[in-house]
Amino acid sequence: MNGASRPPLQLSDPALLSTRAFVGGEWIDADDGGSCEVTNPATGAVLGTIPDMVAAETARAIDAAHAAFPAWSRTTAGERATLVKRLHDLLLEHQDDLARLMTAEQGKPLAEAKGEIAYAASYLEWFAEEARRMYGDTIPGHAADKRIMVLRQPVGVVAMITPWNFPSAMLARKIAPALAAGCTVVAKPATQTPYSALALAVLAERAGLPAGVLNIVTGRDARAIGGELTGNPKVRKLSFTGSTGVGKTLMEQCAGTMKRISMELGGNAPFIVFDDADLDAAVDGAIASKYRNTGQTCVCANRLFVHEAVYDAFADKLAAAVAKLRVGDGLAGATDQGPLIDAKALEKVEEHVADAVAKGARVAAGGKRHALGGTFYEPTLLLDANADMLLANEETFGPVAPLFRFSSEDEVLALANDTEVGLAGYFYTRDLARAFRVAEALECGIVGVNTGLVSTAVAPFGGIKESGTGREGSKYGLDDYTELKYVCIGGI
Ligand code: SIN
Repeated sequence: MNGASRPPLQLSDPALLSTRAFVGGEWIDADDGGSCEVTNPATGAVLGTIPDMVAAETARAIDAAHAAFPAWSRTTAGERATLVKRLHDLLLEHQDDLARLMTAEQGKPLAEAKGEIAYAASYLEWFAEEARRMYGDTIPGHAADKRIMVLRQPVGVVAMITPWNFPSAMLARKIAPALAAGCTVVAKPATQTPYSALALAVLAERAGLPAGVLNIVTGRDARAIGGELTGNPKVRKLSFTGSTGVGKTLMEQCAGTMKRISMELGGNAPFIVFDDADLDAAVDGAIASKYRNTGQTCVCANRLFVHEAVYDAFADKLAAAVAKLRVGDGLAGATDQGPLIDAKALEKVEEHVADAVAKGARVAAGGKRHALGGTFYEPTLLLDANADMLLANEETFGPVAPLFRFSSEDEVLALANDTEVGLAGYFYTRDLARAFRVAEALECGIVGVNTGLVSTAVAPFGGIKESGTGREGSKYGLDDYTELKYVCIGGI
């Protein structure tokens, strides 16, 4: 039994909506019975509750993961691959329900939510295959009577803290390599979007994952839960996706027990349109990059730099495309943009727009709360942005595209790189030499050339500078979940 009461969301498989946490193979409540509500950001309706756990329950989840580790780490790569692939298959089998659940708690359009489930599943498929390729090495020795071997071994219990913007994909991107490598997991999903993570645990249980290998704790006391996850010596690694500020705090907390860390943090992505760009393709790319998930992605274009020769033409085309975006409740009909996650997010967007307008920006589209009310905000385009504005220096995390003007490649590269963070960057050009030059010069971990969409399980995802450390996905993705052990065999 994984839910005490059934909230009203209609699912073909209602058991996917768990209102309990998952620890040691059991569906449990908080020790004191406390709970917190989960609401639909599009309607404000309460979807249900989750256990409001604290450090004690988190410590028990860590104990469960620690106890499960020896047996799980000794399974064969083939056994782990089969289980992870089964979980992939179950995600796709339940794609419609999982997408409805995600739209209900997160607000993104249903089509985007379905896309995210497929994206999440793709990490499981990729790492099910990679499990079998966790190769070590032999190294030509330094002495005639010795042989050198390098083993790759799972790091142990991994704690994960995942965000509300991609509630399935960010968890799948972490648990897939962890499980494939032979690690066990304690995950804490964002309080706003816990049901997608709990549904994944329901499916993991159905896939036959042994008890304790995957544990999900829920609750709003981030300090207590995060403190335990980062302070408990049984946890050997933390993987976090979220803001740079929180990432720094967690990193400090992990220092006490010298944990491995992976951090996928905030960005301030430049999106550059050169004067030789295909403007229609650049507009499509800007819409995809900026307005996907209501602008609430770490990799979304935050600053759009447009060459002065094509500035007006690009602005007109982009304004026309922005005007066509349909805003609404993703569960109520076809939409392109949902609400912002909460009132705080709405206030930040309003603050950035007001600050930009006060400093000289012109509103070419949107610019205010949407008539739908709640946390809906109009898809917005601002012209004449400059470097003094808040939105030039902070992630807006909302549907606001500010257009900056530039006149040379050197100038725009200096502007684009003038930020402490470096997650993603994009540019449009038809000049092959410039494509190489600019891709190499941009200070970020991910570059899109003539595309606004770069996310895939087969490529390494992660940033440089204050955007974090480590890479998720791709052939490099297992590295963060394995330790290298050097074995020297003497007397040969
Ligand atoms: C993120 O916003 O953190 C992830 C987006 C993605 O994987 O595309």
